[in-house]
Amino acid sequence: MTDILPYPTGNQHPRFFGWVMGNGTITGMLADMLASGMNPHLAGYDQSASLIEKQVIAWLAELMGFPPESGGLLVSGATMANINGLTVARNSEVSALTDFDVREHGLGHPDAPRLAVYGSDQIHSWVYKACETMGMGRQAYRSIATDADWRIDIDAARTRIQADIDAGLHPFCLIATVGTVNTGAIDDMTAMRELADEFGMWLHVDGAFGSMAALAPEAADLVAGQELADSIAFDLHKWGYMPFEAACVLVRDGTSQTDTYGSEASYLNGMTGGIAVGITDFADRGLQLSRGFRALKVWMSLKEQGSDCLGQVIQQNIDQAAYLEELVRQRPQLEVLSGATLNIVCLRYVVEGMNDDALDQLNRDILVAVQESGAAVPSQGIINGRFAIRVCISNHRTTRDDLVILLDAITQEGRSAVSRGGE
Ligand SMILES: Cc1ncc(COP(=O)(O)O)c(C=O)c1O
Repeated sequence: MTDILPYPTGNQHPRFFGWVMGNGTITGMLADMLASGMNPHLAGYDQSASLIEKQVIAWLAELMGFPPESGGLLVSGATMANINGLTVARNSEVSALTDFDVREHGLGHPDAPRLAVYGSDQIHSWVYKACETMGMGRQAYRSIATDADWRIDIDAARTRIQADIDAGLHPFCLIATVGTVNTGAIDDMTAMRELADEFGMWLHVDGAFGSMAALAPEAADLVAGQELADSIAFDLHKWGYMPFEAACVLVRDGTSQTDTYGSEASYLNGMTGGIAVGITDFADRGLQLSRGFRALKVWMSLKEQGSDCLGQVIQQNIDQAAYLEELVRQRPQLEVLSGATLNIVCLRYVVEGMNDDALDQLNRDILVAVQESGAAVPSQGIINGRFAIRVCISNHRTTRDDLVILLDAITQEGRSAVSRGGE
Protein backbone atom coordinates (compact mmCIF):
# COMPACT_ATOMS: atom_id res chain seq x y z
CA MET A 1 0.00 0.00 0.00
CA THR A 2 2.19 2.88 -1.19
CA ASP A 3 -0.31 5.20 -2.81
CA ILE A 4 -3.01 5.31 -0.16
CA LEU A 5 -1.82 6.99 3.02
CA PRO A 6 -3.24 6.17 6.45
CA TYR A 7 -5.47 8.65 8.33
CA PRO A 8 -7.35 10.12 5.29
CA THR A 9 -8.73 13.05 7.32
CA GLY A 10 -6.78 12.13 10.40
CA ASN A 11 -9.70 11.63 12.74
CA GLN A 12 -8.70 8.16 13.89
CA HIS A 13 -5.50 9.61 15.32
CA PRO A 14 -5.22 10.40 19.06
CA ARG A 15 -4.11 13.94 18.26
CA PHE A 16 -6.99 14.81 15.98
CA PHE A 17 -8.78 17.76 17.61
CA GLY A 18 -10.39 19.44 14.60
CA TRP A 19 -14.04 20.53 14.17
CA VAL A 20 -16.13 17.92 16.01
CA MET A 21 -15.40 14.49 14.66
CA GLY A 22 -15.79 11.01 15.95
CA ASN A 23 -12.99 8.53 15.75
CA GLY A 24 -14.72 5.24 15.05
CA THR A 25 -14.44 1.97 16.92
CA ILE A 26 -13.69 -1.61 15.98
CA THR A 27 -17.19 -2.64 17.06
CA GLY A 28 -18.65 0.08 14.87
CA MET A 29 -16.58 -1.06 11.91
CA LEU A 30 -17.69 -4.65 12.36
CA ALA A 31 -21.31 -3.57 12.70
CA ASP A 32 -21.17 -1.55 9.49
CA MET A 33 -19.71 -4.52 7.67
CA LEU A 34 -22.42 -6.84 9.01
CA ALA A 35 -25.12 -4.28 8.23
CA SER A 36 -23.96 -4.08 4.62
CA GLY A 37 -23.75 -7.85 4.43
CA MET A 38 -27.30 -8.34 5.68
CA ASN A 39 -28.41 -5.29 3.71
CA PRO A 40 -31.95 -4.96 5.09
CA HIS A 41 -34.25 -2.16 3.96
CA LEU A 42 -35.33 -0.03 6.90
CA ALA A 43 -38.52 1.69 5.78
CA GLY A 44 -40.21 -0.05 8.69
CA TYR A 45 -42.46 -3.12 9.02
CA ASP A 46 -42.03 -5.68 11.79
CA GLN A 47 -38.73 -7.25 10.82
CA SER A 48 -35.71 -7.81 13.03
CA ALA A 49 -33.70 -4.82 11.80
CA SER A 50 -36.66 -2.47 12.41
CA LEU A 51 -37.12 -3.86 15.90
CA ILE A 52 -33.45 -3.14 16.59
CA GLU A 53 -33.85 0.47 15.45
CA LYS A 54 -36.92 0.83 17.68
CA GLN A 55 -34.96 -0.58 20.61
CA VAL A 56 -32.06 1.79 19.99
CA ILE A 57 -34.38 4.81 19.80
CA ALA A 58 -36.02 3.75 23.08
CA TRP A 59 -32.59 3.46 24.76
CA LEU A 60 -31.51 6.85 23.45
CA ALA A 61 -34.77 8.43 24.62
CA GLU A 62 -34.16 7.02 28.09
CA LEU A 63 -30.57 8.28 28.14
CA MET A 64 -31.69 11.77 27.08
CA GLY A 65 -34.53 11.85 29.62
CA PHE A 66 -37.25 11.79 26.96
CA PRO A 67 -40.49 9.84 27.64
CA PRO A 68 -40.72 6.23 26.40
CA GLU A 69 -43.50 7.10 23.96
CA SER A 70 -41.28 9.64 22.13
CA GLY A 71 -40.95 9.35 18.39
CA GLY A 72 -37.49 9.18 16.91
CA LEU A 73 -35.40 8.32 13.93
CA LEU A 74 -31.80 7.53 13.14
CA VAL A 75 -30.46 9.74 10.38
CA SER A 76 -27.12 10.49 8.76
CA GLY A 77 -25.98 13.40 10.93
CA ALA A 78 -27.07 16.22 13.19
CA THR A 79 -27.79 18.50 10.22
CA MET A 80 -30.47 16.07 9.03
CA ALA A 81 -31.69 15.43 12.59
CA ASN A 82 -32.07 19.17 13.19
CA ILE A 83 -33.89 19.72 9.91
CA ASN A 84 -36.26 16.89 10.82
CA GLY A 85 -36.96 18.48 14.23
CA LEU A 86 -37.45 21.97 12.79
CA THR A 87 -39.85 20.73 10.12
CA VAL A 88 -41.89 18.87 12.74
CA ALA A 89 -41.89 22.06 14.83
CA ARG A 90 -43.20 24.07 11.89
CA ASN A 91 -46.07 21.65 11.21
CA SER A 92 -47.03 20.93 14.78
CA GLU A 93 -49.99 22.20 16.71
CA VAL A 94 -47.68 23.30 19.54
CA SER A 95 -46.44 26.08 17.31
CA ALA A 96 -50.08 26.97 16.61
CA LEU A 97 -49.96 26.58 12.86
CA THR A 98 -53.47 25.15 13.18
CA ASP A 99 -55.39 27.36 10.79
CA PHE A 100 -53.05 26.85 7.84
CA ASP A 101 -52.22 23.47 6.30
CA VAL A 102 -48.60 23.92 5.33
CA ARG A 103 -48.32 20.39 3.91
CA GLU A 104 -51.22 21.03 1.57
CA HIS A 105 -50.57 24.62 0.50
CA GLY A 106 -46.88 25.32 1.12
CA LEU A 107 -45.38 28.59 2.22
CA GLY A 108 -45.84 30.19 -1.22
CA HIS A 109 -49.61 30.40 -0.67
CA PRO A 110 -50.96 33.97 -0.22
CA ASP A 111 -52.44 33.02 3.17
CA ALA A 112 -49.24 31.42 4.42
CA PRO A 113 -47.88 32.87 7.66
CA ARG A 114 -44.48 34.57 7.68
CA LEU A 115 -42.59 32.21 9.92
CA ALA A 116 -39.73 33.06 12.24
CA VAL A 117 -37.35 30.86 14.24
CA TYR A 118 -34.98 32.00 16.99
CA GLY A 119 -31.62 30.90 18.34
CA SER A 120 -28.30 32.42 19.24
CA ASP A 121 -25.63 33.99 17.06
CA GLN A 122 -23.49 30.95 17.93
CA ILE A 123 -25.81 28.51 16.19
CA HIS A 124 -24.33 26.06 13.69
CA SER A 125 -24.79 26.82 9.98
CA TRP A 126 -27.28 23.94 9.54
CA VAL A 127 -30.05 26.38 10.48
CA TYR A 128 -29.56 28.45 7.32
CA LYS A 129 -29.66 25.34 5.16
CA ALA A 130 -32.86 24.36 6.97
CA CYS A 131 -34.56 27.73 6.49
CA GLU A 132 -33.66 27.76 2.81
CA THR A 133 -34.71 24.15 2.23
CA MET A 134 -37.99 24.64 4.09
CA GLY A 135 -38.87 27.58 1.84
CA MET A 136 -38.77 30.14 4.66
CA GLY A 137 -35.62 31.86 3.48
CA ARG A 138 -32.59 32.70 5.60
CA GLN A 139 -34.28 35.78 7.00
CA ALA A 140 -36.68 33.55 8.93
CA TYR A 141 -33.77 32.82 11.27
CA ARG A 142 -33.55 35.50 13.95
CA SER A 143 -30.02 35.47 15.27
CA ILE A 144 -30.02 36.61 18.91
CA ALA A 145 -26.98 38.05 20.67
CA THR A 146 -25.14 36.04 23.29
CA ASP A 147 -23.76 36.94 26.72
CA ALA A 148 -20.13 36.86 27.84
CA ASP A 149 -20.33 33.04 28.06
CA TRP A 150 -21.75 32.69 24.53
CA ARG A 151 -25.22 31.76 25.81
CA ILE A 152 -28.32 33.21 24.19
CA ASP A 153 -29.50 36.47 25.77
CA ILE A 154 -33.04 35.55 26.87
CA ASP A 155 -34.27 39.14 27.25
CA ALA A 156 -33.02 40.02 23.78
CA ALA A 157 -34.83 36.98 22.39
CA ARG A 158 -38.08 37.97 24.13
CA THR A 159 -37.86 41.51 22.77
CA ARG A 160 -37.25 40.25 19.22
CA ILE A 161 -40.11 37.75 19.35
CA GLN A 162 -42.54 40.41 20.58
CA ALA A 163 -41.39 42.85 17.90
CA ASP A 164 -41.90 40.19 15.23
CA ILE A 165 -45.40 39.39 16.51
CA ASP A 166 -46.23 43.11 16.44
CA ALA A 167 -44.99 43.20 12.84
CA GLY A 168 -47.33 40.32 11.87
CA LEU A 169 -44.83 37.45 11.82
CA HIS A 170 -45.48 33.99 13.24
CA PRO A 171 -42.68 32.91 15.62
CA PHE A 172 -42.88 29.13 15.83
CA CYS A 173 -39.66 27.72 17.23
CA LEU A 174 -36.87 28.47 19.67
CA ILE A 175 -33.64 26.57 19.16
CA ALA A 176 -31.36 25.99 22.12
CA THR A 177 -27.81 24.92 21.42
CA VAL A 178 -26.35 22.45 23.88
CA GLY A 179 -22.66 22.68 22.99
CA THR A 180 -21.95 25.42 20.46
CA VAL A 181 -19.45 24.56 17.78
CA ASN A 182 -17.12 27.49 18.61
CA THR A 183 -16.79 27.18 22.37
CA GLY A 184 -19.08 24.39 23.64
CA ALA A 185 -21.46 26.89 25.31
CA ILE A 186 -24.80 25.60 26.56
CA ASP A 187 -27.92 27.77 26.46
CA ASP A 188 -29.98 28.10 29.64
CA MET A 189 -32.50 25.34 29.08
CA THR A 190 -34.96 26.26 31.84
CA ALA A 191 -35.15 29.85 30.65
CA MET A 192 -35.54 28.68 27.04
CA ARG A 193 -38.44 26.39 28.02
CA GLU A 194 -40.15 29.23 29.88
CA LEU A 195 -39.69 31.58 26.96
CA ALA A 196 -41.07 29.02 24.49
CA ASP A 197 -44.11 28.48 26.72
CA GLU A 198 -44.64 32.21 27.14
CA PHE A 199 -45.19 32.53 23.37
CA GLY A 200 -46.62 29.06 22.61
CA MET A 201 -43.54 28.04 20.66
CA TRP A 202 -41.82 24.72 20.03
CA LEU A 203 -38.47 24.22 21.77
CA HIS A 204 -35.88 22.32 19.75
CA VAL A 205 -32.41 21.42 21.01
CA ASP A 206 -29.38 21.16 18.78
CA GLY A 207 -27.17 18.97 20.90
CA ALA A 208 -25.07 17.66 18.04
CA PHE A 209 -22.21 16.72 20.34
CA GLY A 210 -23.07 18.37 23.68
CA SER A 211 -26.19 16.33 24.41
CA MET A 212 -24.08 13.22 24.85
CA ALA A 213 -22.61 14.81 28.00
CA ALA A 214 -25.83 13.58 29.64
CA LEU A 215 -24.03 10.22 29.90
CA ALA A 216 -21.00 11.64 31.73
CA PRO A 217 -21.00 10.99 35.47
CA GLU A 218 -19.97 14.49 36.60
CA ALA A 219 -20.76 16.66 33.61
CA ALA A 220 -24.37 15.53 33.16
CA ASP A 221 -25.52 18.52 35.24
CA LEU A 222 -24.11 20.87 32.60
CA VAL A 223 -26.73 19.72 30.10
CA ALA A 224 -29.58 19.25 32.56
CA GLY A 225 -32.82 20.65 31.20
CA GLN A 226 -32.33 19.48 27.63
CA GLU A 227 -35.03 16.89 28.36
CA LEU A 228 -37.50 19.79 28.58
CA ALA A 229 -37.36 20.24 24.81
CA ASP A 230 -40.06 19.18 22.36
CA SER A 231 -37.41 17.72 20.10
CA ILE A 232 -33.69 17.09 20.27
CA ALA A 233 -31.06 16.28 17.66
CA PHE A 234 -27.69 14.71 18.44
CA ASP A 235 -24.94 12.78 16.75
CA LEU A 236 -23.64 9.35 17.60
CA HIS A 237 -20.73 9.72 15.20
CA LYS A 238 -19.28 12.58 17.24
CA TRP A 239 -19.27 12.06 21.01
CA GLY A 240 -20.67 8.55 20.74
CA TYR A 241 -17.37 7.62 19.01
CA MET A 242 -19.26 5.56 16.40
CA PRO A 243 -18.23 5.54 12.74
CA PHE A 244 -19.94 7.91 10.31
CA GLU A 245 -22.88 8.21 9.72
CA ALA A 246 -25.21 8.08 12.70
CA ALA A 247 -27.37 10.66 14.46
CA CYS A 248 -30.74 10.69 16.15
CA VAL A 249 -33.74 12.99 16.36
CA LEU A 250 -36.20 12.47 19.20
CA VAL A 251 -39.64 14.07 19.27
CA ARG A 252 -41.56 14.14 22.55
CA ASP A 253 -44.94 13.80 20.81
CA GLY A 254 -44.22 11.11 18.22
CA THR A 255 -47.46 11.72 16.31
CA SER A 256 -46.30 15.19 15.31
CA GLN A 257 -43.40 13.53 13.50
CA THR A 258 -45.63 11.12 11.57
CA ASP A 259 -48.12 13.95 10.93
CA THR A 260 -45.26 15.78 9.23
CA TYR A 261 -43.75 12.96 7.21
CA GLY A 262 -46.42 10.27 6.87
CA SER A 263 -47.55 9.47 3.35
CA GLU A 264 -50.14 7.20 1.85
CA ALA A 265 -48.93 5.01 -0.96
CA SER A 266 -50.86 1.86 -1.74
CA TYR A 267 -47.72 -0.07 -2.64
CA LEU A 268 -46.32 0.55 0.85
CA ASN A 269 -49.38 -0.48 2.85
CA GLY A 270 -48.82 -3.15 5.49
CA MET A 271 -50.13 -6.66 4.80
CA THR A 272 -51.55 -9.23 7.21
CA GLY A 273 -48.77 -11.71 6.48
CA GLY A 274 -45.60 -12.08 4.44
CA ILE A 275 -42.70 -9.71 5.04
CA ALA A 276 -44.62 -6.41 4.96
CA VAL A 277 -46.47 -6.91 8.24
CA GLY A 278 -46.91 -3.71 10.23
CA ILE A 279 -46.39 -0.17 9.02
CA THR A 280 -43.68 1.94 7.41
CA ASP A 281 -42.65 3.36 10.80
CA PHE A 282 -39.40 4.95 9.81
CA ALA A 283 -40.30 6.12 6.32
CA ASP A 284 -43.16 8.03 7.97
CA ARG A 285 -40.85 9.80 10.43
CA GLY A 286 -38.47 11.42 7.99
CA LEU A 287 -37.60 12.05 4.36
CA GLN A 288 -35.89 8.78 3.49
CA LEU A 289 -37.76 5.74 2.24
CA SER A 290 -34.80 3.51 1.43
CA ARG A 291 -32.75 3.42 4.60
CA GLY A 292 -29.81 1.30 5.70
CA PHE A 293 -29.18 -0.57 8.92
CA ARG A 294 -27.23 2.14 10.81
CA ALA A 295 -29.09 1.02 13.93
CA LEU A 296 -26.86 -2.03 14.13
CA LYS A 297 -23.70 -0.09 14.99
CA VAL A 298 -25.59 1.86 17.63
CA TRP A 299 -27.06 -1.33 19.09
CA MET A 300 -23.74 -3.19 19.07
CA SER A 301 -21.82 -0.22 20.51
CA LEU A 302 -24.30 0.22 23.33
CA LYS A 303 -24.33 -3.54 23.99
CA GLU A 304 -20.56 -3.91 23.91
CA GLN A 305 -19.48 -0.65 25.59
CA GLY A 306 -22.60 0.36 27.48
CA SER A 307 -23.69 3.87 28.31
CA ASP A 308 -21.57 3.94 31.50
CA CYS A 309 -18.38 3.31 29.56
CA LEU A 310 -19.30 5.89 26.92
CA GLY A 311 -20.09 8.36 29.71
CA GLN A 312 -16.73 7.77 31.36
CA VAL A 313 -14.85 8.48 28.14
CA ILE A 314 -16.93 11.61 27.54
CA GLN A 315 -16.08 12.71 31.08
CA GLN A 316 -12.42 11.96 30.35
CA ASN A 317 -12.53 14.29 27.33
CA ILE A 318 -14.14 17.04 29.43
CA ASP A 319 -11.47 16.64 32.11
CA GLN A 320 -8.78 16.68 29.42
CA ALA A 321 -10.12 20.00 28.10
CA ALA A 322 -9.91 21.50 31.60
CA TYR A 323 -6.35 20.17 31.88
CA LEU A 324 -5.47 21.65 28.49
CA GLU A 325 -6.77 25.06 29.58
CA GLU A 326 -4.57 24.83 32.67
CA LEU A 327 -1.53 23.96 30.54
CA VAL A 328 -2.19 26.87 28.18
CA ARG A 329 -2.43 29.28 31.11
CA GLN A 330 0.99 28.08 32.30
CA ARG A 331 2.68 28.98 29.02
CA PRO A 332 3.40 32.70 28.60
CA GLN A 333 3.56 32.34 24.77
CA LEU A 334 -0.04 31.14 24.70
CA GLU A 335 -3.34 32.83 25.50
CA VAL A 336 -6.73 31.26 26.25
CA LEU A 337 -9.44 32.85 24.07
CA SER A 338 -12.22 30.63 25.40
CA GLY A 339 -11.90 28.23 28.30
CA ALA A 340 -13.30 24.73 28.68
CA THR A 341 -17.04 24.52 29.30
CA LEU A 342 -17.33 21.07 27.79
CA ASN A 343 -14.57 19.74 25.57
CA ILE A 344 -13.37 22.79 23.60
CA VAL A 345 -10.54 25.22 24.29
CA CYS A 346 -9.66 28.09 21.93
CA LEU A 347 -6.20 29.60 22.19
CA ARG A 348 -3.62 31.58 20.31
CA TYR A 349 0.13 32.12 20.21
CA VAL A 350 1.02 35.62 21.35
CA VAL A 351 4.03 37.86 20.82
CA GLU A 352 4.56 40.91 22.96
CA GLY A 353 3.97 44.11 21.04
CA MET A 354 2.34 42.41 18.03
CA ASN A 355 -1.09 43.81 17.10
CA ASP A 356 -4.24 41.68 16.79
CA ASP A 357 -4.34 41.63 12.99
CA ALA A 358 -0.76 40.40 12.83
CA LEU A 359 -1.50 37.83 15.53
CA ASP A 360 -4.47 36.58 13.47
CA GLN A 361 -2.19 35.95 10.49
CA LEU A 362 0.53 34.43 12.64
CA ASN A 363 -1.94 31.98 14.22
CA ARG A 364 -3.38 31.07 10.82
CA ASP A 365 0.15 30.20 9.70
CA ILE A 366 0.81 28.24 12.88
CA LEU A 367 -2.39 26.21 12.47
CA VAL A 368 -1.50 25.20 8.93
CA ALA A 369 2.08 24.39 9.92
CA VAL A 370 0.99 22.23 12.86
CA GLN A 371 -1.47 20.31 10.69
CA GLU A 372 1.06 19.84 7.89
CA SER A 373 3.78 18.74 10.31
CA GLY A 374 1.59 15.77 11.22
CA ALA A 375 1.99 16.50 14.93
CA ALA A 376 -1.69 17.22 15.57
CA VAL A 377 -4.86 18.57 13.97
CA PRO A 378 -6.63 21.39 15.77
CA SER A 379 -8.95 23.55 13.63
CA GLN A 380 -9.87 27.22 13.41
CA GLY A 381 -12.41 29.54 15.00
CA ILE A 382 -13.15 33.21 15.46
CA ILE A 383 -13.54 34.23 19.08
CA ASN A 384 -14.52 37.82 19.85
CA GLY A 385 -13.34 38.74 16.37
CA ARG A 386 -9.90 37.15 16.73
CA PHE A 387 -8.50 34.10 14.96
CA ALA A 388 -8.25 31.14 17.34
CA ILE A 389 -6.64 27.74 17.23
CA ARG A 390 -9.56 25.61 18.34
CA VAL A 391 -9.01 22.31 20.14
CA CYS A 392 -12.02 20.02 20.43
CA ILE A 393 -11.48 16.76 22.29
CA SER A 394 -14.06 14.18 21.29
CA ASN A 395 -11.53 11.45 20.95
CA HIS A 396 -11.38 8.28 23.05
CA ARG A 397 -7.76 7.67 21.97
CA THR A 398 -6.39 10.96 23.32
CA THR A 399 -4.17 10.95 26.41
CA ARG A 400 -2.90 13.90 28.45
CA ASP A 401 0.54 13.45 26.85
CA ASP A 402 -1.05 14.13 23.46
CA LEU A 403 -2.15 17.54 24.73
CA VAL A 404 1.39 18.39 25.76
CA ILE A 405 2.67 17.33 22.32
CA LEU A 406 0.02 19.57 20.72
CA LEU A 407 1.08 22.62 22.74
CA ASP A 408 4.75 21.90 22.09
CA ALA A 409 3.99 21.80 18.36
CA ILE A 410 2.05 25.09 18.47
CA THR A 411 4.81 26.76 20.47
CA GLN A 412 7.55 25.46 18.19
CA GLU A 413 5.73 26.48 14.99
CA GLY A 414 5.01 29.88 16.56
CA ARG A 415 8.65 30.41 17.36
CA SER A 416 9.74 29.34 13.86
CA ALA A 417 7.16 31.59 12.18
CA VAL A 418 8.26 34.59 14.23
CA SER A 419 11.94 34.00 13.52
CA ARG A 420 11.23 33.54 9.79
CA GLY A 421 9.30 36.83 9.86
CA GLY A 422 12.28 38.57 11.43
CA GLU A 423 14.82 37.33 8.85
C1 LIG B 1 -23.60 22.27 17.21
C2 LIG B 1 -23.61 21.52 15.92
N1 LIG B 1 -24.77 21.37 15.25
C3 LIG B 1 -24.84 20.70 14.07
C4 LIG B 1 -23.71 20.13 13.53
C5 LIG B 1 -23.81 19.38 12.21
O1 LIG B 1 -23.64 18.02 12.47
P1 LIG B 1 -23.37 16.97 11.28
O2 LIG B 1 -22.01 17.30 10.76
O3 LIG B 1 -23.42 15.64 11.94
O4 LIG B 1 -24.43 17.15 10.26
C6 LIG B 1 -22.48 20.28 14.16
C7 LIG B 1 -21.24 19.75 13.56
O5 LIG B 1 -20.16 19.89 14.08
C8 LIG B 1 -22.43 20.97 15.40
O6 LIG B 1 -21.28 21.12 16.07
